[in-house]
Amino acid sequence: MAKKLYIRTFGCQMNVYDSERMAALLAHHGYERTDRPEDADLVILNTCHIREKAAEKVYSEIGRLARLREVRRRHGGEMLLAVAGCVAQAEGELVAERAPAVDIVVGPQAYHRLPELLARRARAQGAVIDTDFPPESKFDELPRDVTASGPSAFLTIQEGCDKFCTFCVVPYTRGAESSRPAAEVLAEARRLVATGAREIVLLGQNVNAWHGEGPDGRSWNLARLIRALAEIEGLRRIRYTTSHPNDMDAELIRAHGEVDVLMPWLHLPVQSGSDRVLAAMNRRYTADDYRRIVDALRTARPDIALSSDFIVGFPGEEEADHEATLRLVEEIGFAQAYSFKYSPRPGTPGSVMPRQVPEAVKQRRLEELQALLEAQQRAFNAATVGRTVPVLFERPGRHPGQLVGRSPWMQAVVVEDAAVGIGDLAPVAITAYHAHSLGGRIVRPH
Ligand code: 5AD
Ligand code: SF4
Repeated sequence: MAKKLYIRTFGCQMNVYDSERMAALLAHHGYERTDRPEDADLVILNTCHIREKAAEKVYSEIGRLARLREVRRRHGGEMLLAVAGCVAQAEGELVAERAPAVDIVVGPQAYHRLPELLARRARAQGAVIDTDFPPESKFDELPRDVTASGPSAFLTIQEGCDKFCTFCVVPYTRGAESSRPAAEVLAEARRLVATGAREIVLLGQNVNAWHGEGPDGRSWNLARLIRALAEIEGLRRIRYTTSHPNDMDAELIRAHGEVDVLMPWLHLPVQSGSDRVLAAMNRRYTADDYRRIVDALRTARPDIALSSDFIVGFPGEEEADHEATLRLVEEIGFAQAYSFKYSPRPGTPGSVMPRQVPEAVKQRRLEELQALLEAQQRAFNAATVGRTVPVLFERPGRHPGQLVGRSPWMQAVVVEDAAVGIGDLAPVAITAYHAHSLGGRIVRPH
């Protein structure tokens, strides 16, 4: 009988991709996925370390699982508990010390060794820990039979980061920047399309820094890779995330105007609108640099919509800095954004900077920023009402008969129409907007 595997994923889309790859790897070793942790022989928590809150969630989840395991043991069962991902990488042995229930700790660059770690755990007492940055690439070791789990598929093309923003744990948890070769990316993309993907979302912590040898032996950048991907028959949409402003080169901007399957949507974190704070964050651009990049993008592709990340309350941030951020937001106009209170992370330069901002000030600044960003998002969605937009249908809706898809601008669109199915791309006349979605009806050719 197949053993059962339960995976819970925290954090970013790269973790979602890694969880899929772990599941596929373990399927070759007799594990079948379940969505009921109480039935699982192996539980993997794929964790995130980006902010304190994200990391703390893991420990409460371990506690809950340890209790489920007790119940299983009383019925003669077992449950192995593995902590993977960025908390595993950042805390290593501390995870097992703090949570003795944990059997395996494995970092994001070592999870191709899971079968071996499971075997080692079976032989030994105590937790098995692997937080190496191995010389071999996990991608070379993982099974190649990747399949799309739906019409929209993630594909990690780049990992790690060499930029060392002073707030960020990524250079420590994911390691140095590295790109997968173009041929490997193209092969994986073809397999994803052959197994049902209509959209591919290219992933990387610094995705637009991707560079690699092309099949022609020349050095390729992301723009060149996107143009090659765009030629795959059946691939209707390409997106990429997350980008750094300094890697938004002219060729990539031009691709936005020329490659029709490249969606008019870009997640381009700015973090702050104050040059002083940007310098302290080691972002290495100014607010005006960011404005110029956005202008160039809008010239190349007038309907491009922007999404961003913001951090409020970075050490030393003053009222004038916060106001500069609000001003930048007002000028640019974002379709969507994530914003966070600065969370000091152990080992990062920001965590030991003087003039940490009090919690109450962070909270108030966050609320001001979010009110502005939410108003912009509402205005953006409201402006879609009355238009007809192409929608790629991805999943069933909450109510019977409903289908949910996405517009080119990442808006969720809900329709009720028996004639369309998951994986279809169809024009939808948008008739309504709600807090988190748009409603509409399929437009049929006359
Ligand atoms: N505190 C708060 N937010 C952070 N982010 C990254 N590190 C921190 C931190 N220490 C945010 C940034 C980044 C997003 C993924 O998370 O805005 O772009
Ligand atoms: Fe979280 Fe960053 Fe790791 Fe993604 S890469 S899981 S955002 S810490």
